[in-house]
Amino acid sequence: MRSKLLSLVLDKGTLLEPEAASYILEKEDPISYVEDLFTRFRDKPFVITMEEITKAEGIAVFAADKAKRMPVVAPKPPRPRTRDVGSSAKDCESDIRILKDITGESTCQGSIDDFHCHFRNRFHQLSGILKQRRELRGCEDISKAKRLMREVRFVCMVYKVNRTRSGHLILDVEDETDTVAVLIPSSLHSDDFIPDEVLGIVGKTGKNDLIIAERVFRPDVPPGKRFNEADVPVSVAFLGDIHVGSKTFLSERWEKLVKWLGDSDDLARRVKYVVVPGDTVDGIGVYPGQDKDLEIDDIYGQYESLAGLLSQLPDHVEIILQPGNHDAVRPAEPQPALPSDVRKVFQDNVTFVGNPCLLSLHGVEILAYHGRSLDDFVGAFPEVSYERPLAGMREMLVRRHLAPIYGGKTPIAPEREDYLAIDRVPDVFATGHVHWAGIEEYKGVVMINCSTWQSQTTYQRMHNMNPLVGRVPIVNLESGAYTMLEF
Ligand SMILES: [Fe+2]
Ligand SMILES: [Fe+2]
Repeated sequence: MRSKLLSLVLDKGTLLEPEAASYILEKEDPISYVEDLFTRFRDKPFVITMEEITKAEGIAVFAADKAKRMPVVAPKPPRPRTRDVGSSAKDCESDIRILKDITGESTCQGSIDDFHCHFRNRFHQLSGILKQRRELRGCEDISKAKRLMREVRFVCMVYKVNRTRSGHLILDVEDETDTVAVLIPSSLHSDDFIPDEVLGIVGKTGKNDLIIAERVFRPDVPPGKRFNEADVPVSVAFLGDIHVGSKTFLSERWEKLVKWLGDSDDLARRVKYVVVPGDTVDGIGVYPGQDKDLEIDDIYGQYESLAGLLSQLPDHVEIILQPGNHDAVRPAEPQPALPSDVRKVFQDNVTFVGNPCLLSLHGVEILAYHGRSLDDFVGAFPEVSYERPLAGMREMLVRRHLAPIYGGKTPIAPEREDYLAIDRVPDVFATGHVHWAGIEEYKGVVMINCSTWQSQTTYQRMHNMNPLVGRVPIVNLESGAYTMLEF
C-alpha cells in the first residue's frame, strides 16, 4: 500500500513526507483519503507534510462550520454542470458561493489582545504560504536561527525598516520566538520593504546577532496558476464606484449600459453577474464640503435611487453589492455587508457581501476588494499611482495581503482572523476606489480596476484627480478571456 500511495502522490506532481505517509496509511482507505486531500489544498504543496494535512483538514472543518453559520447568502444548490445550455445567461441557473466574508463574523473590540491575535493570525496565514517553498523547507524559528553558525532560513514579520549610510537596509524582524536584525545588501533590494509584511529569509549569521540575507522570498502567487473555467457560457461585468447621489453621477452613460445589457449582442447576452466593488452611493459627510457635491443629501434616498438603477438591469442578471468607504457601514476594514434596513429596498437578485469578499461564480473564484489601501500603496511604491492602480494590486498579490501597511490611510479592524490576507489565489482580483480602469494578468490572476460612474467632482478637481469613467470590464467565466467596454 505504501508504494501505491507514493506513486499516486508522485503522479500528482508532489512528494510525501515519511511522517505524513505513516499518518495516511493509518486511514481506513488511504487512497480515497489522498484523493480527497488534493481537493482541499488551496495551493498544491511541493511536499505534503503533516502541517499541510492539518491545514487541509482544518479547511474542511472551517468550511463546513462556515457553511452552517454564513448569514450573507445561502449557497444555492449546484446546477448540473453542462455546456448544453445555449449561449445566453438567461438559460443558466446562478451559482454564487461566498467563500470568505466578515459579515456576521466580527468579534473585534479593538483590545490589545485583538491586535495581538490579528497580527499572529496574519503571520500564520502568510508564513504557511512561504513554508511551502522548497527554498524554505526545514526553516527554523528566529530564536534557534540566531544561535546557528551555518546557513539559516526562517520566516519573519518586518516591524521596522532602517537604511544604513552605505545604502544597505537593515530590517528589524520578529516571529513568535524572538527578534533579530537582518542586513539586506543593496544588491538584493529595490526599496520595496514595508513594515508588517511577511518574508522568508535565507542567510548567514554575522557578528552581534546580525543575519546577513542572501535570498529574500515573498509569499507571492506560485507559478502555474490556471483559471478555474466555468462549465457554463456566462460572463461577469464589473461596475465600480457608482456613487449614486452625487451631482456628477453619469446618468446618460448608465442608460447606455442598461440598453446594451438588454441587447441581443453576443457579449451582452452572456452577462449573468454584475459585481459592484464598493462606493455604491456617494454617502454623506465623507469629505469636507461634500454637501455641495450631492444631488441626494439623504443616505436612504441614495440607496433607494441605487436600487432603482439596478432594477433597470435585466432580471436574469445577479448583482453582487459590496460596500466601500462611501457606504453606510463601519469604515474600518474588513467591512460587513450593508445593513438590513438598507438591503430591504433592493430586489431579490441582489446579493450583499462584505469588503473584501472571496466568492465563487460557477467555480471561478473572485476576490472583490474596494481598494482603499491603494491610497497607502501610492505613497509607498514609486511605480504605483492613481493612474497605475494595477501596479499596487500586483504588490498586494506579491505580499498576499490587501492592506499590509498598518497605520496609514486604511483603517483596519483587528479581527482575530485577518480577512485581508490573501490565503487563496483568486482567478479574478477586482478593486475600485481610485476611479481609474484597467485589466491585466499577473501570474495567471486577472487583475481589474473597475472605473466609476461619477465624473470629476469639485473636490477631485482641487486634488487633481481625473477619473476614467463609464468603463465596464467583463470576464468570460468559461474561458477567462476579458475585455473592457466604454459607455
Ligand atoms: Fe469612489
Ligand atoms: Fe472609495
